[in-house]
Order: sequence, then structure tokens, then C-alpha cells
Amino acid sequence: MNTENISMNPFKSFLGDWALVSAGNEEKSNTMTIGWGALGGMWGVDAAFVVIRYSRYTKEFVDANDYFSVAFFDGECKDALMTCGRTSGRDTDKWAASGLTPAYANGVPYPAEAKRVFICRKMAAMDMPRESFIDDTIYDKWYSDDDMHVMYIGEVVDVIEK
Ligand SMILES: Cc1cc2nc3c(=O)[nH]c(=O)nc-3n(C[C@H](O)[C@H](O)[C@H](O)COP(=O)(O)O)c2cc1C
Repeated sequence: MNTENISMNPFKSFLGDWALVSAGNEEKSNTMTIGWGALGGMWGVDAAFVVIRYSRYTKEFVDANDYFSVAFFDGECKDALMTCGRTSGRDTDKWAASGLTPAYANGVPYPAEAKRVFICRKMAAMDMPRESFIDDTIYDKWYSDDDMHVMYIGEVVDVIEK
């Protein structure tokens, strides 16, 4: 599948339904819940934007690999997503803890239970320096502990839909 036939509301899909970002390989992978992100176009290609804080174990997997996946559940599996958003892969096998099944697309991990998965090729990892915040209340509200997000922009190279 490609993105042409996709029908979804990205506003609801991120903030309301949440998604999972997964990265790694068939030997070792990790997944985490995200509520923030975007889908659209960038640099002339279909793109997914996700933001991952420095403290997340998942960041190490995304940094170490050329691809990551973004998986949507259309409001289902919320308990599993809560588990993946409250525990860390540093001390928990989140696939086992959440009951989700890791599947692989050309070696890129994603949850088999997802309704829709975007396989993304990393194009950029962008820091958010303090001086880039025009609305200072955002910085004060979300980054008082200095645990900044990195914005990963990935080209959507494959779409898996149930
Ligand atoms: C609903 C929800 C949404 C979340 N959204 C994000 C997000 O967009 N970016 C982020 O860095 N962390 C987000 N988190 C927090 C991570 O999922 C959480 O810290 C997770 O335990 C990280 O796991 P890891 O250490 O295995 O990577 C969210 C958590 C929840 C419950």
C-alpha cells in the first residue's frame, strides 16, 4: 500500500488514540507510546514526524537504525499502549508486558495488532534549542526539567494496513 488510499484523521490519531514508535531489529527492538506527532509532506515526500525525549530508551534504537515504524490502533489496545507509555524497555520486555506481538517489515519492527503502520526512513533528527521557542510558556510547561524532544522526520516508504 501507499499513502494515497489512507483515510485517517491525524489529529485524533495522535492526541486521542495514540501511536507506537518502534525501532531495532529482529534480535532486539523496543517500542514506546507517542501522543504527539504529525503526518504530511516534507522535502517532496510523504513524511511522518515524531518527537522523542532524550530520556527514552526508544531513542537509542531510533538513533541506531535507519528506519523506524509508527503504528496506529484507531482507539483500540489502549491498555497495551498505556503499558508501553508507562514502562521502559530498559527494565521491561514491553512486547511481552503489553501483549503485543512484534512483527517485522524488512527487519523493521512494528506491532502486528496495529490497524495501520507507516515504515519510515529516517531523514532528519532535529533538536529544539531553547531560543527556537517563540511561545515561552511552551518551554516552561513542557521542558522545565530540560528533557528535550528530538524531532525525527521520516520518509514513509511503506504502509501496512489491516
Ligand atoms: C499517552 C502517552 C503519550 C506519550 N507521548 C510521548 C511522546 O510523544 N514523546 C515522548 O518522548 N514520550 C511520550 N510518552 C512517554 C513514553 O511513552 C514513556 O516515557 C515510555 O515509558 C518510554 O519508554 P522507553 O524508555 O522504553 O523508550 C507518552 C506516554 C503516554 C502514556
